Amino acid sequence: MPSNSGSREILCVVGARPNFMKIAPIMRAFAGDASGLSARLLHTGQHYDASMKHAFFDQLHIPQPDIDLEVGSGTHAEQTADIMKRFEPVLDTLKPRAVLVVGDVNSTIACALVAVKKGIPVLHVEAGLRSGDRSMPEEINRVLTDQLSDLLFTTELSARDNLLREGIAGSGIHFVGNVMIDTLFFNLGSAVPAARTFEQLGAFTDQEIPLDYGLLTLHRPSNVDDPVVLERLLRVLCDISQSTPLVFPLHPRTRMRIDASGLNELLEGARITTTAPLGYLEMLGLMKDSRFVLTDSGGIQEETTALGVPCITLRENTERPITVTQGSNTVVGTDPEKIVECYTDVMSTGGKQGRTPELWDGAAAERIVAIVNRWSEATAA
Ligand code: UD1
Repeated sequence: MPSNSGSREILCVVGARPNFMKIAPIMRAFAGDASGLSARLLHTGQHYDASMKHAFFDQLHIPQPDIDLEVGSGTHAEQTADIMKRFEPVLDTLKPRAVLVVGDVNSTIACALVAVKKGIPVLHVEAGLRSGDRSMPEEINRVLTDQLSDLLFTTELSARDNLLREGIAGSGIHFVGNVMIDTLFFNLGSAVPAARTFEQLGAFTDQEIPLDYGLLTLHRPSNVDDPVVLERLLRVLCDISQSTPLVFPLHPRTRMRIDASGLNELLEGARITTTAPLGYLEMLGLMKDSRFVLTDSGGIQEETTALGVPCITLRENTERPITVTQGSNTVVGTDPEKIVECYTDVMSTGGKQGRTPELWDGAAAERIVAIVNRWSEATAA
């Protein structure tokens, strides 16, 4: 096993789009804390397209990764195994003090599993979230990563209860707030106004940029992989768009499924502007200025809560319950009637505004870095 307790370096891992906004403030906080540990960045290459990667590194000023494993796409087993095989020699060479992973994607569990078996401590940012739905690949990744982690950083208090219930020691759990919201507040002033994005997209060329529009995102396998489910969802979204136009940045997975199922025609007849995936600052601007957001993303449920924009979540559950109990989120599922009912309510009442949850204040990454430094000193050989 590599001897790592004398190392002053934390190896931070990213892999997929939602990891990038989480790592940005952590890298900044490590860089701003010269007295303590330093951070090195590794990208697994799970997401690799310019629109899924480069735009985020540039806009969020994330340092270029020191290492890129370039794994690319594959089945879950292929992708996870490829990351593990390519990550192992990196650890043997670098012998970092710890490996820091964020979120719940395949890169998160793959790197955590390699590190723990080499006796390298794992630090998990966004620990303890549970949907209770084990058919979600992310739920498996969350449960297993948390079991392997030495330090577990949580975004909401319910996460601690989930972790304790699974037998994880309370001493490693730290409620620090939400690094994704650090990024949101840090960048809010630079968000690209929706009108500018519409102009760039050539959307709404009928002179009139609508005051009321909805932002739509869909990419969960449970919503897009089955053509019957996808068509049912798109049909109700097309209906909604007849009253309120929608903007729909398409994740590559969703683009592929729509093309493969021949559903493009359906969209063409609707008031839905589709685009390639957008950059962070364009999405932030569209989200901020929208009347409501329809989504199956986890991160967007949190971002809309921080912005006070009503969010209609097209899933049966959420691993982020605070966005419902305190925030602006309503989990409606995929039943067309329920979606229309919620949409109608949002349009007639303005929808839920909610409030910003505790410690979602822009300083979560600094708390994390302070705790990691204290932990490192306390556990040094
Ligand atoms: C992954 C995460 C999911 C996260 C999502 C955000 C897992 C299990 N899932 O799902 O939690 O919400 O990222 O986007 O880790 N593709 C491209 N270009 C890319 C990346 C992907 O074209 O840069 C295409 C490939 O055909 C690939 C498909 O998108 O097969 C899906 O990518 P993958 O990384 O397997 O999962 P996501 O659906 O993106």
